[in-house]
Amino acid sequence: MSANGVDLFYGETPAVRNAEISLTRGEVVAITGQSGSGKSSLLYCLAGVLPVARGEVRFEGRSLGALGDEELSAIRRARFGFVFQYGELLPELTVEENAALPLRLAGQRKSEALAAAGEVLGRLGIADLRDRRPSQVSGGQSQRVAVARALVHQPAVVFADEPTGSLDSNNATAVLEEFLNLARSQGTAVVLVTHDTQVAARADSRYTMRDGVLTAQVREAS
Ligand SMILES: Nc1ncnc2c1ncn2[C@@H]1O[C@H](COP(=O)(O)OP(=O)(O)OP(=O)(O)O)[C@@H](O)[C@H]1O
Ligand SMILES: [Mg+2]
Repeated sequence: MSANGVDLFYGETPAVRNAEISLTRGEVVAITGQSGSGKSSLLYCLAGVLPVARGEVRFEGRSLGALGDEELSAIRRARFGFVFQYGELLPELTVEENAALPLRLAGQRKSEALAAAGEVLGRLGIADLRDRRPSQVSGGQSQRVAVARALVHQPAVVFADEPTGSLDSNNATAVLEEFLNLARSQGTAVVLVTHDTQVAARADSRYTMRDGVLTAQVREAS
């Protein structure tokens, strides 16, 4: 996936300016930057959630801006995954049903979708919680459910916007580690927004964002 010369505005206000970024299969890209610098906005551009004002986002040889709404939604559902800061699980579904959601939306049969979700929950160490509601699990557990949901359909790219922002630092490190390991094991590329420079240091490539301007960090020789 790549973005070339991407601008995004909210009304007159620029949020992303001339962004250039590319990622290959299985690559982990970390983005750091101050509050309000445009990190979430950049994710929305890359994920095709918001249309860009200028430039182009390409995915698997196609320009997202050239796709119709249905085609774009289909790509988002099948090929992308999302982890949000607070997990955002559906309260009326069980843990397992939440994790299975992308597969259900893709039309997979319930028994198969739940089995696949159970497997991913197992890899994240929370298979025993599968029948609980989101309100009946801890913050770290709920974040693991959100990770399971983002990866259960083995997306090409997962966008993670401060995925452990609501967790204490020990828990955050553990969840992030499990998330990155799982993504790597299935070849899913990750675009990770984080304020944690130690986490960012473990990514394959790093960018910083400031006033809407994205800058690639050159890796120091070690
Ligand atoms: N829906 C919106 N309408 C108008 N302005 C917005 C909207 N969403 C974000 N902005 C503005 O765009 C800029 C970038 O916001 P964005 O949410 O991308 O920042 P961020 O880097 O993700 O910040 P944070 O670290 O706090 O999540 C900010 O100045 C913000 O106020
Ligand atoms: Mg944000």
